[in-house]
Amino acid sequence: MVKRIDKTFTETLMTWYRENRRDLPWREDKEPYHVWVSEIMLQQTRVEAVREYYLRFMKALPTISDLAAAEEETLLKLWQGLGYYNRIRNMHKAAQQIEAQMGGIFPQEFDAIKALPGIGDYTAGAIASICFNQKTAAVDGNVLRVMSRLNNDDTDILNAGLKKRITAYLSSLYPEKDCGDFTQGLIELGALICGPAGAPKCEICPVNAYCEAKAAGTAAALPVKAKKKARKKVDMTVFILQAPLGTAVCRRAETGLLAGLYQLPNVEKRLTAAQAIEQVERWGCTPKNLLRSTDYCHVFTHVEWHMTGYFIAVEKMPKIFQWASDAQLAAEIPLPTAFGYFLK
Ligand code: ADE
Repeated sequence: MVKRIDKTFTETLMTWYRENRRDLPWREDKEPYHVWVSEIMLQQTRVEAVREYYLRFMKALPTISDLAAAEEETLLKLWQGLGYYNRIRNMHKAAQQIEAQMGGIFPQEFDAIKALPGIGDYTAGAIASICFNQKTAAVDGNVLRVMSRLNNDDTDILNAGLKKRITAYLSSLYPEKDCGDFTQGLIELGALICGPAGAPKCEICPVNAYCEAKAAGTAAALPVKAKKKARKKVDMTVFILQAPLGTAVCRRAETGLLAGLYQLPNVEKRLTAAQAIEQVERWGCTPKNLLRSTDYCHVFTHVEWHMTGYFIAVEKMPKIFQWASDAQLAAEIPLPTAFGYFLK
């Protein structure tokens, strides 16, 4: 598959990693719980943003048994702002399985790790190599980019077979010792040198001698990735209903986007101010005053919400909503970022 790469590539990359790795809190030890939580957080979120979430999470839930025993609402609050909330729900289930079926000990074998809820090839590969010195590659979009360039390969990186082939190929390049340094070396190369935005920094790349794309002058044009379908745009009206004792919140449906999380009352479509007041009357809240309105757009993976928010003082607090104090909103109620804009 690749002409230039051999085991000297592995050694070169690992040496560079040890000398240049970023100091990140989840790299302080090889405790599987630490690596697991960080890898799940890092799947959709930038390292800099994860750092704070990770530290707060570990302070609140230092062990797997703490995670297993936590209330779902506490977990959703710790996850608030990270998005893709099924990640934390799956971690909760996995922690409960580890407690109930594995004596509280994180499994060591790749297949057993992968069998846990929410863990796929990537996460299982990362944990098995970093924590248990197994020759299991962890291939995400960043590693695919690096490998497309090293191989000067213009296969679409969303091609299902490619990931499998690269995973098998990389697994054959693992060293006997410190497997985690090879896994994280590839990750680090993708983050610091062979990045997604702008031209890759080939001149200072520790493995540029192995790179087919550098030799061919094609590195900046790779990887090839098919254009995604345009996101659906949804117009919405969001209500920030302010009663003397709190702000109205309610639960989202148990399925679909942001399933089961809290939300501010809202309707699809953009309403005029007069229509918004009528809606609040229909809910039985007795609107007193339209205080102000503001617009926000929130972009999810497959949909964009274009929202107008109306801040309305109300007199009544009907039971169709929960009325949350500012302190409850800050400390207890998991409100997704899309609604959080209106309360900043
Ligand atoms: N992205 C995914 N896994 C990572 C890790 N272990 N360190 C830094 N960034 C990552």
